[in-house]
Amino acid sequence: MSALKFFTVFAFGLFGFTFGLSGRFWHITDMHWDPTYDLSNKPDKVCASSGNRPASNAGIFGDYACDSPWKLIHSSLSAMKAISPDPDFIVWTGDDTPHVPNDQLGEEAVLGIINNLTYVIKQLFPNTKVYSALGNHDFHPKSQLPGAFHNIYNVTSEIWKDWLDLESQETFREGGFYTENLLNRKGYRMLVLNTNLYYDQNKLTQNIEDPAGQFTWADKVLTEAANNNEKVYIIGHVPPGFFEKKRSKPWFTAKFNEQYLKLIQKHHSVILGQFFGHHHTDSFRMIYNSNGSPISTIFLTPGVTPWKTTLPGVADGANNPGIRLFEYDTETLLVKDMVTYYMNLTFANTGKERWEKEYRLTESFRVPDASPLSMHKVLEHIANDNCYLQKYYEYNSVSYDLTECNKDCRVDHICAAREVDFSQYENCLEKEGALFISGGLLPFLTVIMSQMLTKYL
Ligand SMILES: *[C@@H]1O[C@H](CO)[C@@H](O)[C@H](O)[C@H]1NC(C)=O
Ligand SMILES: *[C@@H]1O[C@H](CO)[C@@H](O)[C@H](O)[C@H]1NC(C)=O
Ligand SMILES: *[C@@H]1O[C@H](CO)[C@@H](O)[C@H](O)[C@H]1NC(C)=O
Ligand SMILES: [Zn+2]
Ligand SMILES: [Zn+2]
Repeated sequence: MSALKFFTVFAFGLFGFTFGLSGRFWHITDMHWDPTYDLSNKPDKVCASSGNRPASNAGIFGDYACDSPWKLIHSSLSAMKAISPDPDFIVWTGDDTPHVPNDQLGEEAVLGIINNLTYVIKQLFPNTKVYSALGNHDFHPKSQLPGAFHNIYNVTSEIWKDWLDLESQETFREGGFYTENLLNRKGYRMLVLNTNLYYDQNKLTQNIEDPAGQFTWADKVLTEAANNNEKVYIIGHVPPGFFEKKRSKPWFTAKFNEQYLKLIQKHHSVILGQFFGHHHTDSFRMIYNSNGSPISTIFLTPGVTPWKTTLPGVADGANNPGIRLFEYDTETLLVKDMVTYYMNLTFANTGKERWEKEYRLTESFRVPDASPLSMHKVLEHIANDNCYLQKYYEYNSVSYDLTECNKDCRVDHICAAREVDFSQYENCLEKEGALFISGGLLPFLTVIMSQMLTKYL
């Protein structure tokens, strides 16, 4: 605890200065609590979520093969409390339960875990408004969220009722989404989407044009927002676009990806930011208009769970636990900056509970703010400068994987960030891939040419 106290002082030193209209909010996501985590068991039985992989470095704060022990959950929320105890609001984008087979959970267990996490957040932040979205793991069976009334929606709307007005409770019960005032002020709005309805693993919604009528509803809310001069943030769990750690791996079904992109392109002028989870990694997605101008950014906040993904084709997909503080303009909702804090799990397991600043966006990427134009510049830096690429890559796993991001890695990360659209993404792969093929061929051709020239001249 004394480490945390020291950290508080340190953090105040950092944030002692404030800007006139500067506000702050936390984004926390993918806590994935594993209640079975138990250090007294043999390595392959420390936690159910390792699926028999050995938890070879298991310590009190967790292991990279496991989902979060309670101590890690509590530590991440306590760090938020220590670093910025009075944020304007908190964004919480779901995935509360462990990565275990359905038969090890069940509806009651899922709801129990949602209830436990809600309880501890409320204990630490009793007076803070929380905007909370369901993840694909906050359901039984996992990812099978329906576009209609369900008991899990109904009970969760009850668990979250202090954060929801009556209309939000109503829409939540019928489809797991809602909209609320932002900052308790007229003219500012939060849209909390249930994008699990668009997840390609969701068998219930694939043949439905507009599951739960959410697209129609969001279009209406955003149209009214424009008419009323409102400014909007959008949050959700599963993002559109591609996974940067696995080539050509999208999450949404093609038609839903297209519909989502259309929605944002139509309403981008009132949308000041989009905040998602699900990846467990630190990345972002750009959305451009038809002229190629950047119009919106999806910020992907890293997860609390360090769990190494079992997705085939991902080599070493673990991460350090991360949390993120956003700084924004309370009048315009411009996202001004973001600071990612993390726990070096290996270090923490030596007995020292420490959360440290990993990086501040504007410092590390030399941009004035986190507007779409600035995030476009960040992407250009990463695409054109290997130092920035490497820095971005290390942050991507929250300073877990410090190996070199090679050419294939570069293409995967850049194209995922640049293109949310399926066919544009494939074009990007070709374009960026073609670059390094010619990079490999060009020196070769130059040698042949110069040999030919020596021969014939
Ligand atoms: C979770 O909630 C249950 C039921 O309220 C309670 O018995 C249990 O102690 C809680 N667990 C934790 C770790 O808070
Ligand atoms: C929904 O939850 C409320 C409160 O927990 C309960 O009274 C009601 O019966 C539930 N509705 C249905 C249809 O299950
Ligand atoms: C994390 O901590 C371990 C153990 O102290 C250390 O070896 C490693 O370099 C640290 N990682 C980072 C990114 O600081
Ligand atoms: Zn997750
Ligand atoms: Zn998820």
